[in-house]
Amino acid sequence: MNKTHLVDDITGHRRMRRNRKADWVRRLTQENRLTVDDLIWPIFVVPGSNIVDPIPAMPGVNRLSLDKAVEAAKEAADLGIPALATFPNIEMELRDETGSHILEANNLINQVTAAIKKAVPNIGIITDVALDPFTSHGHDGILRDSEIVNDETVDQIVRAAVTQADAGADIIAPSDMMDGRVGAIRRGLDAAGHQSVGIMSYATKFASGFYGPYREAISTGGLLKGDKKSYYIDPANGTEAVRDAALDVEEGADMLMVKPGLPYLDICWRLKEEFGLPVYAYQVSGEYSQIKAAAANGWLDEERAMMETLLCFKRAGCDGILTYFAPAVARLLAK
Ligand code: PBG
Repeated sequence: MNKTHLVDDITGHRRMRRNRKADWVRRLTQENRLTVDDLIWPIFVVPGSNIVDPIPAMPGVNRLSLDKAVEAAKEAADLGIPALATFPNIEMELRDETGSHILEANNLINQVTAAIKKAVPNIGIITDVALDPFTSHGHDGILRDSEIVNDETVDQIVRAAVTQADAGADIIAPSDMMDGRVGAIRRGLDAAGHQSVGIMSYATKFASGFYGPYREAISTGGLLKGDKKSYYIDPANGTEAVRDAALDVEEGADMLMVKPGLPYLDICWRLKEEFGLPVYAYQVSGEYSQIKAAAANGWLDEERAMMETLLCFKRAGCDGILTYFAPAVARLLAK
């Protein structure tokens, strides 16, 4: 063969492909791995019993009644999934302007926590204290004169956090983005004797278009008036997100979350580098549905896209991922 160029001269004999040439060497050089220990499974719960109600925009994800949620928790524990995050879809009659039902000690979310803790004591339960499942307007805070009021909301979510901890929640994950809530929740929990209950702050929650299917799942999509831009972070802002996380760290967050996940891998990396706390990405409903929809059309290999996105979170510095794929991934990894 007549060579037009000398690759050895160009590469200086350095060839990246040596370490890629066979499966054994690719395994030896792999930098990051996804394991079942990285998974947090978000589940949706509804009142009633024996209900497994499919969510059209999230194929494969169902709203579960308490008994079915307990079964799901058992399944998750058997698969080795460390923790669940629970989200309620409560009756419309129970939703009001201030989301007052969140304060009810025996509300659906607390019932589910208590039931799972009783049946499956070794799985972690992460509960949210944002008001959106409980408000008649779908916002995460209390609405007064077309404003989501910060301090009054914080007061309410602190009380909600204490009832959730009383019910057995292991980690409180406030997703509301009110200022000062992490410190306030920490003080509230400690004053109530819940020193060992942790806080996973949704430190950087962006005003994103990827939450659509979740809002269908908990029936807030049709309720939401306006948008959440006055309290969530602008997708354009990375440095502001780091500052927001810094405040949560100062206020006592034990873990940080970035939400959504894949479009915000730079934020995952920056938070991990900056604070060294455990960092989690929330692969949100829209990210899940994108993969599902493309796969249903035959445009993507679902399993590959699922595993690749989750591995990329690990590469970006995440310690774990909240993902609706959790049971599917756990089953695949167990093979
Ligand atoms: C609100 C909340 C959101 C999600 C969970 N809690 C976002 C929103 O509706 O504004 C989104 C989760 C997902 O999309 O999977 N507190």
